[in-house]
Amino acid sequence: MSALGQTARERVGAAEDALAAIRVRCMACGAEQSGSSSRTACPTCGGLLDVVTPITGPIDPAVFGARDRSLTGRSGVWRYRPLLPALPEASIVSRWEGNTPLYDDARLTTYAGMTGDVRFKHEGHNPTASFKDRGMTVGVSHARAVGARLVACASTGNTSASLASYAAAAGLPALVLVPDGKISESKLAQTVAYGARVVQIAGDFDAALTLLRELTAAYDVYLVNSVNPFRLEGQKTIVIEAIDQLGWQAPDYIVLPGGNLGNTAAFGKALIELREAGLIAKLPRLVVVQAAGAAPFAAYAAGGWVDFAPVHAETVASAIKIGNPASTPRARRSIERTNGLVTSVDDAAILDAKAEIDRVGIGCEPASAASLAGLRKLVAAGAIPPDASAVCVLTGHVLKDSETIARYHFDDIGGAPRPRANRPLRVAADLPSLERALSDALHG
Ligand code: F0G
Repeated sequence: MSALGQTARERVGAAEDALAAIRVRCMACGAEQSGSSSRTACPTCGGLLDVVTPITGPIDPAVFGARDRSLTGRSGVWRYRPLLPALPEASIVSRWEGNTPLYDDARLTTYAGMTGDVRFKHEGHNPTASFKDRGMTVGVSHARAVGARLVACASTGNTSASLASYAAAAGLPALVLVPDGKISESKLAQTVAYGARVVQIAGDFDAALTLLRELTAAYDVYLVNSVNPFRLEGQKTIVIEAIDQLGWQAPDYIVLPGGNLGNTAAFGKALIELREAGLIAKLPRLVVVQAAGAAPFAAYAAGGWVDFAPVHAETVASAIKIGNPASTPRARRSIERTNGLVTSVDDAAILDAKAEIDRVGIGCEPASAASLAGLRKLVAAGAIPPDASAVCVLTGHVLKDSETIARYHFDDIGGAPRPRANRPLRVAADLPSLERALSDALHG
């Protein structure tokens, strides 16, 4: 018996009845078949088919549910306004950000080595396809409220795309500094397309941010990197919305990739505030995962917070290729207050976790997959119990870095064949060739 009190046989029967009730009609001869057929051409005359929509009279729009078109209704950031800075309504620039899905998938839970409830908060579903939009709506709104005339950031690609979009929405000029040749082409293309002035710096992200901070100190330029506290306010809503989606039951762990450590800073602040506001009873433990080639914060934590030493960053996850994270002290505070964990994973682990997330149909960019790779590593090491509950944050969309996907699946990055590589087949346009190529799939 299922939860609904139906046997399996009854459920199959109900599905068959539902399919049989659907009518599919040939537009040429009018012959009808039921929705239980998988035919896509009329069995009588070969004509094209239409599904018949059974409209039996006027439909009351109320049956579609109420829509709240106000700012709080549209935005998954501004909905949580009592936990955000009270900016003047007239300066708010919002693009329906947030409202991102909280997925679960048994295959990914197994991959993590867990039996507990594992969820994936997919921030790639924001308007510019990364979590940055949540911070940008607050940052650019604040810039507008204070009368900024030029907004600027240094970026590994996502902040720049987001700033470019929100600045365009606000009618403000945007300046972005990116490391030349070291960010994904899709992110660069997005930033250019949204109309920002792009400057490619002969140096890495850390050099670009240092340079920009010098510029903003000398000129009247509004800085929207995550050192900006208003941006972090928006990023708090990633965890606020996730916990809201869980019915205000906080998970045991929240796992996220760490680069410049803005999210780590924001999440810790959000969790403390949620507890203060009585919205959650217990604090989840934050788990920050860095790429092994860009892991100064993991080394700092492992050394008991004694000496922080910047590194020269190198990783396939270009979004988190950062050697001197700007929010380090705030991030340390978050880890200390939530009794958190910090770890690092190598590029091979990131790419394999990404391939796993991608092939269950969810997809994310490389940096995002560090969360699952880190969770898997800590479960295997016994640092996280398998039956715990966890939310992994997927920070960016699968299309943010298609070059890395192609290299992984077609080129064997690093010379090693990838167990999850999925190479397209090339065949001549005739049926015998196609049959040969697909023989496993057709007969297997
Ligand atoms: N994931 C993605 C997809 C990112 O783009 C970033 C940061 C991070 C994770 C790390 O977040 O900095 O809060 O620790 N990207 C910045 C950028 C640096 O310029 O787009 P963090």
